[in-house]
Amino acid sequence: MFELWTEKYQPRKLRELAGQGQAVKTMLDWANGWKRGRPKKSAILLYGATGTGKTAAASALAHELGWDLIELNASDKRTLQVIRKVAGTAATTGTLFAGASGKRLVVLDEADNVYGTTDRGGYRAIAELLKQTRNPVVLIANDQYKIPWEIRGACLAINFRRLTTETIVNVLKRICRAERVEAEPQALRAIAEAAKGDLRSTINDLQTIAMGRKRLTARDITPYRRDREANIFDVLRQLAYAKNGREARELLWRLDRPPDDALAWIDENIPRMLIEPADLVRAYDAISRADIFLTRARRRRAYGMWGYAGDMMSAGVALSREGKLKFVRFQSPSPIVRFARTRASRGVRDSIARKVAARCHVSSKEARKHYLPYLGLILKHRGGAGIAEELELEDAEKEYLVKLA
Ligand SMILES: Nc1ncnc2c1ncn2[C@@H]1O[C@H](COP(=O)(O)OP(=O)(O)OP(=O)(O)O)[C@@H](O)[C@H]1O
Ligand SMILES: [Mg+2]
Repeated sequence: MFELWTEKYQPRKLRELAGQGQAVKTMLDWANGWKRGRPKKSAILLYGATGTGKTAAASALAHELGWDLIELNASDKRTLQVIRKVAGTAATTGTLFAGASGKRLVVLDEADNVYGTTDRGGYRAIAELLKQTRNPVVLIANDQYKIPWEIRGACLAINFRRLTTETIVNVLKRICRAERVEAEPQALRAIAEAAKGDLRSTINDLQTIAMGRKRLTARDITPYRRDREANIFDVLRQLAYAKNGREARELLWRLDRPPDDALAWIDENIPRMLIEPADLVRAYDAISRADIFLTRARRRRAYGMWGYAGDMMSAGVALSREGKLKFVRFQSPSPIVRFARTRASRGVRDSIARKVAARCHVSSKEARKHYLPYLGLILKHRGGAGIAEELELEDAEKEYLVKLA
């Protein structure tokens, strides 16, 4: 199974965090304050651009101080239910939020994307938590201004800066040494500059480019970028013919797509090459398993599951074939295919039906059965822009309807 380098080289200690010296110092001072009782601010807010080390820093902090780590995701409905329960009744804090010995670091990731913002219930629960907690709390966000000021005011705000090219190059050098890849400085510079301070995506780029190479020169970088699009069909075809799991997984890396997208391309193209029904059954089985892992990875931000998903969509799909392959013209997956795959299509359909129902004074069910197919036809053959506008249809909804007709 392949391992993401971002996970393999995730900083485990605060001082391993690159380029965030000031933030790290403030975090440690605050954490030490907890040793003497409850500091004035029970929480810190780590904010800043994506891929700069916020989540990694929170875990490292807990690890370094020997605190238990409770990771919650604020965008998850279940998380808020837990917080509400704990914050609402002081008696229950004993179980989850007040360890008898030592502290528990409560990390609330995605605090700028809280579930239940319309009724503000989500933020109320967090505010309560900050007031009542007897344990240190870390909020994490990309955009601090999306968080209500009452909550921001209760936190010590700590900025995570975009990393400079220098800093990023140093991290890449270290990884290359560990992976025994000999890389030209210009090559690393080129990779680092493309990522605009986001170390996560830079490391992902490095891993993709370095796949199967011992040496990395500046020349490897440019064609790699240019060929991205053109290559995808070739890579997919090779994937269908892959003879072992290792080869399939390497090809997946060369596909160079985010996991959901890679799966959509595979789902769209590879099953059509299969001739034997038994092969098809196995391939779809692997695809749907990959889909399940991806959904879980996303929901729980457990990106380790990408590995399983990756294995399923590459090795799982490739090795499900016993019979011959036929030649088909490959095509790019339309958004609608992606919807169908993720079962979101039902959501799209229902949202159109609701809009139609409201305008035409029928039930959603009726709208779905009797109106949607016609709407599709109208959109397809007569433009139907007026109707789409009237119903305030989103692009994805229009596409769904056209596909339906
Ligand atoms: N400052 C850093 N030093 C070393 N590695 C880093 C740093 N920032 C990011 N990384 C690498 O990128 C990966 C992702 O970082 P992390 O999840 O902490 O980013 P984040 O700031 O929480 O991003 P997001 O806002 O998207 O959640 C880490 O596992 C690590 O491999
Ligand atoms: Mg994060």
